[in-house]
Amino acid sequence: MNPTLNVCANRRMGAGSCAGSGSLDLAAALKAEIARRNLAWDVRLSPCLAHCGQGPNLKAAPGGPMLHGCTDAVAVLDQLQQEWRRK
Ligand code: FES
Repeated sequence: MNPTLNVCANRRMGAGSCAGSGSLDLAAALKAEIARRNLAWDVRLSPCLAHCGQGPNLKAAPGGPMLHGCTDAVAVLDQLQQEWRRK
């Protein structure tokens, strides 16, 4: 199974949400940066991950962390590559 970044794409009207905080742009930036790094990783849009006020949120799988406040695709991938290298 390729590593998969499940990016919350939920939008909540009148409340904080990941899509309202830029998660769709983040997903596109992650796909571009993954391609630039030539990684066999997938990016999927996910339903609400139940941390709406902390978005954009993503859950890395398999066994990866839940990340909050993700606005920088480069920083997200740097962090995940370091974490997965340690395992
Ligand atoms: S809207 Fe993204 S965690 Fe709920």
